[in-house]
Parts: sequence; structure tokens; C-alpha cells
Amino acid sequence: MSIRNRDREVIWHPYTPVKIFPEAIAIVKGEGQYLYDEEGKKYLDAISSWWVNLHGHAHAYINDQVSKQLHTLEHCIFAGFTHEPAVRLAERLLDILPGNMGRIFYSDNGSTAVEVALKMAMQYWQLRQPGTKRKKIIALEHAYHGDTFGAMSVSGRSIFTDAFKDWLFDVEFLPFPAPGHEEESIATLEALVKKGDVAACIVEPLVQGSAGMFMYPAEVLERYFALCREHETLIIADEVMTGFGRTGTLFACDQVASTPDIICLSKGLTGGYMPMGVTATTHKIFEAFVQDDRSKMLYHGHSFTANAAICAAANASLDLLLDKGCLAQREMIADRHREFLSSLDTNTGFCNLRQTGTILAMDLVTPDNSYHSSVRDKAYKYFLDNGILMRPLGNIIYIIPPYCTSGSDLDHVYHTIKSMTKIF
Ligand SMILES: Cc1ncc(COP(=O)(O)O)c(C=O)c1O
Repeated sequence: MSIRNRDREVIWHPYTPVKIFPEAIAIVKGEGQYLYDEEGKKYLDAISSWWVNLHGHAHAYINDQVSKQLHTLEHCIFAGFTHEPAVRLAERLLDILPGNMGRIFYSDNGSTAVEVALKMAMQYWQLRQPGTKRKKIIALEHAYHGDTFGAMSVSGRSIFTDAFKDWLFDVEFLPFPAPGHEEESIATLEALVKKGDVAACIVEPLVQGSAGMFMYPAEVLERYFALCREHETLIIADEVMTGFGRTGTLFACDQVASTPDIICLSKGLTGGYMPMGVTATTHKIFEAFVQDDRSKMLYHGHSFTANAAICAAANASLDLLLDKGCLAQREMIADRHREFLSSLDTNTGFCNLRQTGTILAMDLVTPDNSYHSSVRDKAYKYFLDNGILMRPLGNIIYIIPPYCTSGSDLDHVYHTIKSMTKIF
């Protein structure tokens, strides 16, 4: 029996309306920017398998480093114990992260990196100011920070959170700084932080991924950060998607002068190989938790914290990311996106053409632009039929390719995007 048919009997897939899409494509091999299914069909992974893959699938160097690690130590408890791959990864991340990060806390994925960040920020104020009134959290309209309850609470209220809304904690949302609404968003933040009861403000810097690759300028991010600084509000930068070169700089926060207090990482952290979350924080926040009283420690940890094989994958991915060949590839992708967008200017089938670094997005002009519109399903199938894995967000078409993607692969994607107006 095919893997596809066996899957149908036993698996419940994420973000899948199981009645409408009972079947999954069974992938048997990954190589570079391509995936191969059990029938031998090849797909260009234009979205880096949910934005995680940086250097391509089954990369020889990462394979080798993980394999070496597995022969030495696969995993051990990370409370009271440590190991070199975790320490080395932390040292290297602290070296390249923006701002004055002083400590690395490991967890399992992007959602848990956000949970940890929220818990750190909430408890920080309780430790620094017992009985504190700094309890409020600010987030951005349309945000997506993950699927655990804290992460959902700070995410925009939407179809993603509807079923759980009665159990989410209250958050103040800033209007999204869409063109023409930047000042409104900044003024809302200012009015809120001035009250002195805000613990932290969390944002996806420069690009809101799941919202639909909504982009906003570095100047706005700078103003958010500066206001938070001025009013002693902690800044949490969720770089789960934007981290590791996606936005043209190593981290999106590198594009502003002010710095966050906490940074969340995942996805590209391991080159997309294995799940891992990182919550990086400043010495100032860490120091607040250095207490004689054990009840004041951070009550958080996961069984697989800092898994040694995963740390090896992350260290190997960093080796590749920091190589100048990878930088040249990222620049090539960003340049090609720019050229493509300028060639699209006169094409009336798309609007809101946008790009930040290697991320390219546009809206297909259609009457129905909801997340589950039939446009999305038609476009998804159209791309698959053309050998491209691309999951539209409603009517939003975007690509965020692995950095090993070639110019001719990009041409194929651009051509397919251009020609898709034929089917609508
Ligand atoms: C900005 C951001 N934060 C957090 C998450 C959650 O990450 P994960 O799916 O690894 O839990 C995502 C996932 O798409 C994300 O884009």
C-alpha cells in the first residue's frame, strides 16, 4: 500500500481541513531545494518547508555533523548537566544576535520560545517590583506567535484562535502600521506605555509571517522600540521567522538602532533540520532571576531541552549561514526578487507587491481573500502541478526559499506566478 494511503488511516495532519484534504503527498527524499514524492515527482520547496529550511534538504555537511554528534552523545538531561554543543551554540548566538544579549534559554520550537519569553517578562517585573502593576502585554494586530496558549493569547484574534478565545488572556493590540496608519499605531503604543502598567511589548520585527507576509518599515520598528525603552517596557522580538538572514540582515532587529530585551528564535536555527527554540535575553533580565530563594527561579523546562544532536545541527547550520557563499546567495535571491517585482508593476492581476530581503509576497486580486478561500486551494494545486511547493495564505502568494535555490529555480517560480492569472 502507498504511504499516502497508509497515512490516511492513521495520521492527523496540522493545519489541514481533514475532510476536504484527506490525502497528503508522501515525500520519500529531500535533496537541496527539492523534495521527491513516492511517485517520483519533484517539487521545488519555495517556502522552505514552513520557513524552516535554510541550506537545502539532506545537506551533506549538516548530516555529517549530526551523525558525528550522535556517535558521541545523543541527548542528556539539561538541568544540572550541560554539554559542549549547547555551550558553543549559545556562545555563537550571543556573538551574532543584535543588542546586548547575555543568556540563552533553550526550548523546543517557536511557540515555546515565545512562551518562555512571556514568562520571563512577566516574572521579571514581579521580581524587580514585588506587587508590580506592570502586568499588561502589548502585541500587534494580526500577529502570529504560535499555537500554545500564551503564544495564542499574544496573537491576533482570528480564525486561528476563534475556538479558544474564551481561554486566552487579555492583550492590548496595536493597529498594524499599514501604509498611512504608521502614526496611529505608534500613537496607540505611546498612550499605552505611558500608563506605566505594561510589562512587555511583543512584535514580529519587519514582517508578520502568518498574517500574510505583512511588511512594515524599519523606521516604525525603531519608533516602537524607542518608545518602549523610554517607558521601561520590555521589548520581545519574535524573530522565529525573520531570523537567520531572511530579511536581508542576519536578524530583522539588525535594521534598527534600538535593541530588544528578549529575542525568540526557532525555524532556521537548526537550518530547518530539527525542532529547537531559543529565548535569548539580556544580563539585566537574567540577573533578576539570580536569587537565593528557589521559588523565584524560572519554572520552565522541557524534556528535550538542548538536545545534543539538535545543537550539532544548529552549529553546522550556523557554519554554513556565516559563510560568504551563503551571504552571496541571499543577496542574489533578494536582487532577483526586486527585478521580478519591477517587471510585475504593470500586471494588474496582483496588488500590494512587497519584499523584505529574501521574502517576496503579493496579493492576487480576487473577490474572496479569506484564509480558506477557494482561491487558495486553486492556487496551491496550480503550483503543485507546476512542481512548486507554495502554500498561499488566502489570496496571498509568497515565497521564502532555501538559500541554495538557484536563479533558474527562481525564474520558474516567477514565471509560474505570472502565468497563474490565466487560471483566475
Ligand atoms: C513569528 C512566529 N513565531 C512563532 C511561531 C511558532 O513557531 P512553531 O510553529 O515552531 O511553534 C511561528 C510559526 O510560524 C512564527 O512565524
